Amino acid sequence: MSAFSRRGGELCCEAIAVSELAKKFGTPLYVYSKNGIVDRCRGFRAALGNTKICYAVKANSNPSILTLLHAAGFGMDVVSVGEMEHALKAGALPSDIVFSGVGKTDAEIERGISLGIFSFNVESRFEMEAIARIVARLKKPVRISFRVNPNVDVMTIPYIATGLYENKFGVPEGDLAELLEIVEGEPLVKLVGIGCHLGSQLLELKPYQLASSRLAKIASELKVAGHPIEFIDMGGGLGVSYVDEKPPSLKDYGAIVRAEADRLGVRLVIEPGRSVIADNGILVASVLGCKSTPKRNFCVVDAAMNDLIRPSLYEAVHRVEPVVESPVKAKFDVVGPICETGDFLGRDIPLPQLSRGDLIAVLTTGAYGMSMASNYNARPRPAEVWVDGSDSVLIRPRERPEQGF
Ligand code: LLP
Repeated sequence: MSAFSRRGGELCCEAIAVSELAKKFGTPLYVYSKNGIVDRCRGFRAALGNTKICYAVKANSNPSILTLLHAAGFGMDVVSVGEMEHALKAGALPSDIVFSGVGKTDAEIERGISLGIFSFNVESRFEMEAIARIVARLKKPVRISFRVNPNVDVMTIPYIATGLYENKFGVPEGDLAELLEIVEGEPLVKLVGIGCHLGSQLLELKPYQLASSRLAKIASELKVAGHPIEFIDMGGGLGVSYVDEKPPSLKDYGAIVRAEADRLGVRLVIEPGRSVIADNGILVASVLGCKSTPKRNFCVVDAAMNDLIRPSLYEAVHRVEPVVESPVKAKFDVVGPICETGDFLGRDIPLPQLSRGDLIAVLTTGAYGMSMASNYNARPRPAEVWVDGSDSVLIRPRERPEQGF
């Protein structure tokens, strides 16, 4: 059964009409396909073999979704103590958790060391110093991997390219020696991996190939120097199709990212977020009304930039469609009620004549949708439901204004 499809002109999630879900749970509403997520996890496993797949929690941290991904055998890539606690609550073992991020506090480092997580992805000299200082105090061992900045260019929106010297992320290869000195001075620190994260929404495999051969070279040198290197971590970044992009298949991606690790006889770790979950979620909104100026038509809906910030923040383009199909009347900017011109979900969207109460859906919003939602304009964040065949389950209730935010 496909995650989202049209039946008789009605948008459906698995076996349920989206309009039924909107009636039952209200709008704005995030709707996910549970079986779509499970199928995608199977696809990853089939293409990636025994790779350690650590889902990037930042893409969507709904507790039920994390529990589902854990049950599918995924570990978790976290970037804050909050995400670490979510991962543990979802059932992840500390040995399933990698801790990424360019700035970790002492409290976060201490929590990860005490738990005995799989690895800290170390991004700077100051982080390495803090970890060495904290392990010495706690007298507990720690597993780390260096996140290298491979200076590999990728074609994506500038805010989410991370693997260049222009970006704050990772350690330039030339600076690894000074980090190694710290590792070699503290026997409780075990350097077990080497990794990178090139950026997000990548649609080409070439950068992965370039970066993985660089990492493999560094890994073999570290092995020769006596470090117990167990894995190469290729980060996340695989793109999805928002409009008509053609992302690589999981099979092709798997073959490229696995090649160097297999050749070197070490394990591969990956940290996918978007490519696991984006396609399996939509945001449903109700139309409040349509209006026009001499220049533009606007369709004002009850979801806004606080519910889905990607269009406003990155000028990201998502498909926006009426939940019930009917002939197109004109092009509209689909906008929210927030008092900013930047508050839009889609621009120049061909839509039928819609009236108050009609429904629209913003597609491919399973990733970086709800996880980036805020309470701007004191707006309650949306409810989230998932559909499992012909059942629907509320997996996070809508916030209520009286909760105060
Ligand atoms: N690992 C690390 C270290 C990361 O920084 C990220 C994403 C991932 C893994 C997961 O990447 P993915 O597979 O999801 O591409 N808010 C932006 C995306 C920011 C991505 C940040 N890092 C958006 O809405 O497009």
